[in-house]
Amino acid sequence: KEIVLTGITTSGTPHLGNYVGAIRPAIEASRQEDNDAYFFLADYHALIKCQDPARVQQSRQEIAATWLACGLDPEKVTFYRQSDVPEIAELNWLLTCVTAKGLMNRAHAYKGAVDANTADNQDPDFGITMGLFCYPILMAADILAFNANKVPVGRDQIQHIEMARDIAGRFNHLFGEHFVLPEAVVGEEGSILKGLDGRKMSKSYNNTIPLFETEKKLQKGINKIKTNLLEPGEPKDPNDSTVFDIYKAFATPEQTEQMRKHFAEGIAWGEAKKELFKLVNDQLAEPREKYLELMANPAHVEQVLQAGGEKARVHARKRIADLRSAVGLVNFK
Ligand code: TYM
Repeated sequence: KEIVLTGITTSGTPHLGNYVGAIRPAIEASRQEDNDAYFFLADYHALIKCQDPARVQQSRQEIAATWLACGLDPEKVTFYRQSDVPEIAELNWLLTCVTAKGLMNRAHAYKGAVDANTADNQDPDFGITMGLFCYPILMAADILAFNANKVPVGRDQIQHIEMARDIAGRFNHLFGEHFVLPEAVVGEEGSILKGLDGRKMSKSYNNTIPLFETEKKLQKGINKIKTNLLEPGEPKDPNDSTVFDIYKAFATPEQTEQMRKHFAEGIAWGEAKKELFKLVNDQLAEPREKYLELMANPAHVEQVLQAGGEKARVHARKRIADLRSAVGLVNFK
C-alpha cells in the first residue's frame, strides 16, 4: 500500500496556491483504493513564523474546514493536528541528532532569510530562530513518523522532501532500515501558482487570493492581479501572465487552448479576468457553502480532529517505540 501524507502550516488563510499545489492533488490521491492517506494541520510548524496564538488557532480552524469542504473523508483519511501527536516532536529530536548542520545551512527558507538580512546590511542571523533553521527536520519527522512514501506538495517544498530522504538515509545507515525514503509528488499543474504581484502566491508575500472568502472577495482578488499595459486588441503573452497561469490551473486542456487563442487575439484584461472569475467561482461555489457551514460549527471540526489525532497516535506510538529501542533509549528487543 502507498502511504500518502501532506500538511499545511497553520499560519494563514488557505489560498488558491495551497489548493492547486497540495489540497486538490492530495484529495484525489486519497480517493484511490490502494492508498492510505495522512493529512494534517502543521501547527508546530506555524510557531516558527507566528507568535500570535489567536492567529494560529483561527488559521487551524480555517485550514481544517477547508480540507473537509474540499471533500476529505475523515473516515477514510487519517486527518489530524500535528500537535496532537507529540511522538512527532520526539522523533524530531532523534532526527536532529543525526542531521548535519551543513545540510540545514543549504535550506531555502534559512538561506532566504540570511540573504534578506545581508541585503539590509543586518547581521546575517538577525531574527532567525533555531525553529526556522531546523524546520526541515520537523518536516522529516512528520513524514517519517508514518513512513509515508508519497508526499503531494507544490514545487517549493521539493527541497524539504529531499532533505527528509537524506535524513532518513542517515538514520537507516546508523540504526538499520527503519524508514522508507519518501518521494515528492508534484503534478504537472503543481508548478508554483503566482500571486497578485507575479511572485509565488504566498502568505509571506501578502499576495494571495483566499480560497473560500466570499464570492465578492474572490472577484476583488482577481481584479487586483497585476497585468501589463497592453490594450484590448493587442496580443498578449500567456507565458508571462498571472491571469493565464491561474486560469490554466483550474481549466480543462480544451478551455486552456481556447484562452490561449483569446490571448493571441488580444482579449482585454478586464474580459480575461471575468472569464477567470467565472471559471474559478463555478468550481469553488459548492465547497465554499460547505466551508461556511463548517466554520459556523467549530465543535464538530474539533471532534473530527480529536478522533483523527487518536487514530494517528496509534500508529505513531508504535513507530516511536521501535525507534527508541533502535537508538538505545530502552532495552533492545
Ligand atoms: P505551506 O503551508 O507553505 O503550503 C502548503 C502546501 O501548499 C503548497 N503551496 C503552493 N503550491 C502551488 N503554488 C503556490 N503558490 C503554493 N503555495 C503553497 C505548498 O507547496 C505545500 O504543499 N512545510 C510545509 C508544510 C508541511 C508539510 C509537512 C508538507 C509541514 N510538514 C510534511 C508535506 C509533508 C509548508 O509550510 O507548506
